[in-house]
Amino acid sequence: MRVITYGTFDLFHEGHRRLLERAKALGDYLIVGVTTENYDDSRGKLNVAQSLMERIRNVTESGLADEIIIEEYEGQKVQDIQKHSIDIFAIGSDWLGKFDYLRDYCDVVYLERTKGVSSTQLRNESSGVIRVGVVGSGRIAARFVAEARFVSGVSVEAVFSRRYGAAKEFAERLELEWANEHLADLLNHVDAVYIATPHETHYDYARQAIDAGVHVLCEKPMTLSRAETADLYERAAERGVVLLEAVKTAFAPGFQRMVAVARSGSIGRIRSVDATFTKLVHDGRELHGSAGGSISELATYPLLAAVKLLGTEFTDIRTTSLRPDGSEVEVFSRIDLTYPSAVASARTGLGVKAEGELIVAGTRGYVYVPAPWWLTEYFEARFEDSRQNKKYYYKFDGDGLRYELAEFAWMIRNSLSESFRFRQAESIAIAGMIEQARANPTTIS
Ligand code: CTP
Repeated sequence: MRVITYGTFDLFHEGHRRLLERAKALGDYLIVGVTTENYDDSRGKLNVAQSLMERIRNVTESGLADEIIIEEYEGQKVQDIQKHSIDIFAIGSDWLGKFDYLRDYCDVVYLERTKGVSSTQLRNESSGVIRVGVVGSGRIAARFVAEARFVSGVSVEAVFSRRYGAAKEFAERLELEWANEHLADLLNHVDAVYIATPHETHYDYARQAIDAGVHVLCEKPMTLSRAETADLYERAAERGVVLLEAVKTAFAPGFQRMVAVARSGSIGRIRSVDATFTKLVHDGRELHGSAGGSISELATYPLLAAVKLLGTEFTDIRTTSLRPDGSEVEVFSRIDLTYPSAVASARTGLGVKAEGELIVAGTRGYVYVPAPWWLTEYFEARFEDSRQNKKYYYKFDGDGLRYELAEFAWMIRNSLSESFRFRQAESIAIAGMIEQARANPTTIS
């Protein structure tokens, strides 16, 4: 009898060993499928601690597998079972009922899960749970708390808000342990903060947290000036804490893949990047004050596309902004960037609706990402000969905040001062672009 089972086998533990022993005992040949990083990402299993090679080694060293294969895509089990002439599919009882569909191909056996141990638990114990405090109590802060439940090893425990009543209400509603009246109190009992307050307050809050030795995940735009953003990175480096700008798109699997495909040469040399982000807002904070407007609110995403695809070394920037009579802020803008051999254009709008698409034009073809491109689930590489066109699909889970939080947690655990997915130089360049775009627009009304 040939048996197959699958798992991530991260930080190999007693539960894994017992599962494999019993699976092996069901027959005389055991195949173990180990998941790839990409597959774990795509099914929303973030924060796996060990690499695929290490996890394969874990299974090899157990001495229980007769053969190891890798599991890299959804639906692969049906194929594997037929290809390897499997008689029995075995899996832990946490999956009870989920694999009944495989009964069309072989027997399905659910084995009692070993109590009291899991990779999730070990990950938490080995590096400790990262205690996070939220600064701000608005809508995005609430979404963050909900998303944090999908990232293992992170626990949101406290909130600070300028208005204590709002913090208390937030803590009660989202079941957080603490509501703090002063930021200093919150900083005392957390390892990290997520800053989700109005833009103009980010710098001061981030600075206080860094000075207190607390890691900072800061909503975009981190600040509205290049100098302030650069200053925060310097302070974080001196203090030895992680500082990450919460630009979720940068950490989402689909966007990273799009950048990789566009830069791989498949569409030739990139000559232009056009990205649009608009939102229908008719009243709210973003329409008022010196930090309001469509650029400060929305330009980070399109400018992220520009720097990821063309780099940070632009030679010129020109902005046209629409500011209707009576409006405190610009509500529609086009930022044109010139690079040595390419151009980029970012359009942002509050109270204007356009297709939120991204087009990357190259000398051999182009990449098209339909709206909402910043929640990248799907893109196409297109060519003059449309038979060469290729479609790419990815998963973008929930609100996507889990991706930036998983990256942040990973950086803290591994003492990384920067993420290759979104480098400090890129974050600083975007801050500079936003500053310049807001400072010198050609204004129309
Ligand atoms: N397993 C088990 N007993 C445990 C933990 C896991 O029998 N205490 C089984 C799972 O049911 C699965 C296999 O081991 O059949 C591989 O599971 P995997 O997802 O790699 O391990 P977990 O510890 O459950 O990982 P995580 O906490 O990351 O979900």
